Amino acid sequence: MKNIYGSKAVSGFIRMCGDGFAQGWHERNGGNLTYRMSPEDIKLCCDFFDAGGEWVNMGVSADNLKNEYFLTTGSGKYFRNIKVEPFENIGIVEINERGDSWRIVWGLENGAKPTSEFPSHFMNHSVRKSATGVNRVIYHAHTPNVIALTYVLPLNAKNFTRALWQSATECPVVFPDGVGVVPWMVPGGAEIAKATSEIMKSLPAAIWAHHGTFCSGADFDEAFGLMHTIEKAAEIYVLALSTGRPFLQTITDDNLRAIAFDFGVTLNEAFLG
Ligand code: 13P
Ligand code: ZN
Repeated sequence: MKNIYGSKAVSGFIRMCGDGFAQGWHERNGGNLTYRMSPEDIKLCCDFFDAGGEWVNMGVSADNLKNEYFLTTGSGKYFRNIKVEPFENIGIVEINERGDSWRIVWGLENGAKPTSEFPSHFMNHSVRKSATGVNRVIYHAHTPNVIALTYVLPLNAKNFTRALWQSATECPVVFPDGVGVVPWMVPGGAEIAKATSEIMKSLPAAIWAHHGTFCSGADFDEAFGLMHTIEKAAEIYVLALSTGRPFLQTITDDNLRAIAFDFGVTLNEAFLG
């Protein structure tokens, strides 16, 4: 491999950042992406690593992420610039053997740092790795229609999940477990990281009130597809509400159960009726 961009991990990461920007989810430096590298990814990329950086404590820790490597977007970096100058806007960090600190081994040049949401990503990686065994991607985006709904719907998992399931027939198949909701909190710290990871123990996505969405997935397609599906369902819900009709017809709970039955998925009954 001539350079690190030849690896599927790095090229897929850069492509996903561009796709998110094209969707309008990443104004300025909004949103962030992390990817837990596989042993094959590390083997391919390690010739380009330089492990001279300082260890930085994260304020959170995870036993099941000791010695892992993560691709991460940089804090304050604009998604629209990632394709053009990846080495300044994204990077790879190594986690120490206590699972509580990172150091840069590639990229994030000229003093850049991992996303300020790295503690949230890290805790979410930890719980999704335990819950699924295969999760590698955590993605945070400023999805406008989801954010708009956090000004309208009661801020709880049942109301959001049901509204999204009812907004597009594919939704119960794509996220049968549902989505969780984190009340408004100051972003970027250990508190919001812990609240989000509590939700992610059982659900693949969490909505941050008046802020955005966190999604997880085994690969870039799954995490991006989940974000896209949730945001599009929210857009349909907002469009329907914006007609101003006093009564909206919708997919019934029994319709949702029928979809689940035919597609062989189990819906989280706690979010119905
Ligand atoms: P970063 O630029 O540090 O990734 O922060 C962006 C963001 O969306 C914070 O929630
Ligand atoms: Zn954000």
